[in-house]
Amino acid sequence: AADAGLDYVKSLITSHENFPIPGVLFQDAFPIFRDPVAMDIVLNRMLGLITRTSPKIDAIVGLDARGFLLGPLLSTHLHCSFVPIRKQGKLPGKCESVTYEKEYGTDVFEIQMDALKPGDKVVFVDDLIATGGTLRAATELVRKVGAEPLLATCIVGLPALEGATKVGIPVHALVPLP
Ligand code: PRP
Ligand code: MG
Repeated sequence: AADAGLDYVKSLITSHENFPIPGVLFQDAFPIFRDPVAMDIVLNRMLGLITRTSPKIDAIVGLDARGFLLGPLLSTHLHCSFVPIRKQGKLPGKCESVTYEKEYGTDVFEIQMDALKPGDKVVFVDDLIATGGTLRAATELVRKVGAEPLLATCIVGLPALEGATKVGIPVHALVPLP
């Protein structure tokens, strides 16, 4: 079905061949952040999705780095916590960690152990899902601290890579790209 709002958001995304390494087509969502009309559409779609599917949540968990730009905007509207998952070595205090494979290379993610309580219901946010390895690792980390992953939401999805099927929870990408 036609969706003028999301078509407008999609029109702002730019593709960059061979970035950050040869063979990768990088989809840049930052032009959306330059445009408050587009940001309003993205935030309202994400908030609608979250409140429809997960009426009571305890935290929005944002993924390093662009998930940090959306997460606090969502959590403020939802009156819940914002919790970051960061690349290794950036978070102080006791952390859990997990190693994961991305579209290009390996990384380590960490979460502060006192950021979530056992049983907390969590929704993830990031700019993009490609292979799903990043979101999969985020769900593993959240389960390690005893919290419950419910849903993930991203601006961009690459359905040809079938990443959403590997995460283990429902993943909703607002703009699917070929
Ligand atoms: C990009 C993107 C997602 C991830 C998706 O992040 O922001 O987080 O890749 O890939 P996947 O679904 O194949 O795991 P990147 O790892 O490049 O790091 P950055 O966000 O710090 O730039
Ligand atoms: Mg990322």
